[in-house]
Amino acid sequence: MIDRPLPPPDPAAADEAPPPAGQRHVLVRGQVLHFLADPGPHDDPAAWRYFDDGALWVADGRVVVAGPWAEVSAALPPAARKAATLHDYRGRLVLPGFVDTHLHYAQAGIMGAFGRQLLDWLKDYTFPAEARLADLSEAERAAAFAVERLLAHGTTTASVFGTVHAHSVDAFLAVAEARRLRMLCGKVLMDRHCPDTLRDTAESGIRDSLDLIARWHGRGRLRYSLTPRFAPTSTPTQLRLTGELFASRPDLHLQSHLAENRAELAWVAALFPERAGYLDVYAHFGLLGPRAIHAHCIHLSDGERRTMAASGSAAAFCPSSNLFLGSGFFDHAASLAAGLRVGLATDIGAGTGFGLLPTLRDAYCVSQACGTPLGALRGFYLATLGGARALYLDDFVGSFAPGREADFVVLDWAASPELAWRMERTASLPERLFALTILADPRCVVATHVLGEVAWQRG
Ligand code: GUN
Ligand code: ZN
Repeated sequence: MIDRPLPPPDPAAADEAPPPAGQRHVLVRGQVLHFLADPGPHDDPAAWRYFDDGALWVADGRVVVAGPWAEVSAALPPAARKAATLHDYRGRLVLPGFVDTHLHYAQAGIMGAFGRQLLDWLKDYTFPAEARLADLSEAERAAAFAVERLLAHGTTTASVFGTVHAHSVDAFLAVAEARRLRMLCGKVLMDRHCPDTLRDTAESGIRDSLDLIARWHGRGRLRYSLTPRFAPTSTPTQLRLTGELFASRPDLHLQSHLAENRAELAWVAALFPERAGYLDVYAHFGLLGPRAIHAHCIHLSDGERRTMAASGSAAAFCPSSNLFLGSGFFDHAASLAAGLRVGLATDIGAGTGFGLLPTLRDAYCVSQACGTPLGALRGFYLATLGGARALYLDDFVGSFAPGREADFVVLDWAASPELAWRMERTASLPERLFALTILADPRCVVATHVLGEVAWQRG
């Protein structure tokens, strides 16, 4: 059974109705920013809320209200005020936790492996790294490392690839559950064009996925994502069975890769000559639709972007990975113009770090190369609510709307001497946000909270 967002608590009624005994209250004071919609290229003021002396009131892990400190603290009923834990983050930026819409937790150990493009990189680095997770203890170590580093960078929700081994998903989701995170994960489906040790079969892949779904999907904040690696490493039978399972279970998610690299495109054309193109392979096998997210989506025509958008599928924009592997430039503006849902993603291990702030810097650089520079407010939307929308999780996370799960990150504007120097010379919020993105430093993350509670703190 899938959990639903709670109806929002009504702050207006708070004075008359004292909170039930035992309710846990958290009160945060800081510079609170969140988004209600995409602010677009012109920073639409209706799309975001910023409270310079702001407050976030959390009850039992859910947002009650975000607003000006004076108003929120005045609305607090005495019992809640007395019981509340106060986090004083004045002068710090408080944002919804970052949402990383695509990464491979098993690949953290190959970040920064030199000098290959996608297909050679998979063969030379990726598959050997993933083969190590045949050992459960290696999977457990990799999962613990990835979750800790995600939190250290302010990421609280992600769509995560395991490896072909079912226990890789058990290892990751067990850590995510222990940290109370909202996470998606799936076992890689891969029954051809890969080392024998990483190959499943069409039938065993589905059987293992069904077992994992029964164990994890809808348990607490966790959900299962069907994970066919990409068209070249699955037989038509595996793709068909995956599409059929996805169609029969509309509550499931699905994640894969699409149109990342030109040699990959040529390979897909050779393997599926009867299909009109890469996207058409996925359309044919039922791998598009709401809750499907495909990473990269670089080499698509406008018509394909529109087809993908109409299906409800989303694209994960992986700028650091695309620069690193020399894959090309994702056209964010053209994708939005086609109506696509777009989230931001590190794509570790082709990505170069766990942080979505440096990833945003790369997104800006890629958008510049495409002639449509990404504004700072839109960038922060992309890293929070935009990602949640791309994963169809925006009823739960991505903003501080009442009733949302209170995952948030606290950022230091001046964590490095360069940032401090630059911030002294900024005049507006967009200017400050932009400088924060471009000069991003891991020290910017002061704390990460999950369901209101501190989950990670800067040393
Ligand atoms: N395409 C298929 N598998 C992968 C992967 O692991 N990383 C990236 N970047 N692209 C892929
Ligand atoms: Zn990937």
